[in-house]
Amino acid sequence: MAWLTALAATAAVLTMTGPFGAAVPVEAAAGLGTAQDEQEAAEPQANPIEMSEDSVRAGRRVFGRFCRSCHGMRADGQGMTAPSGSRPANLVDDQWDHGSTDGEIFTVIREGVPPAYDMDAWEGRITDDDIWNIINFLRDLAAN
Ligand code: HEC
Repeated sequence: MAWLTALAATAAVLTMTGPFGAAVPVEAAAGLGTAQDEQEAAEPQANPIEMSEDSVRAGRRVFGRFCRSCHGMRADGQGMTAPSGSRPANLVDDQWDHGSTDGEIFTVIREGVPPAYDMDAWEGRITDDDIWNIINFLRDLAAN
């Protein structure tokens, strides 16, 4: 998880600047956090990639390549080649079975939906940035 490494690196930098003030090491410690904090931090809630034409276009490209077969290019769940018996979700309605925040949708795309995993885990095949781009694409599609 690149972002986690980045977080750890940030904390390390903060710790090194410790001699300049007592408050800094305390902040660094807070940054590393308890197990519970890490649990929360493991599910980033905000989309770090701003909504933009470029992001939507990038999201559309990746979606067309990996997601269209099941969810359909309009993301309405009407893909032509979904495995028989599976029910790909409509991704442009208001119903989110696994959470509606950007962070929750990100987690679903990255980790898939157990136990059947008809909705696969895409971690390692799609970059985190492109998952966020897909979410921007879906938000844009739903709004238009
Ligand atoms: C092989 C078919 C298939 C492919 C390919 C696929 N999905 Fe899915 N997806 C599903 C199915 C089936 C579900 C419903 C899972 C469930 O709730 O049991 C689902 C659910 C989801 C959900 C959760 C919707 C909700 O209501 O919470 C999201 C988000 C999603 N897919 C996004 C994607 C994205 C993005 C891609 C491409 C990277 C993708 N899917 C590729 C089959 C697929």
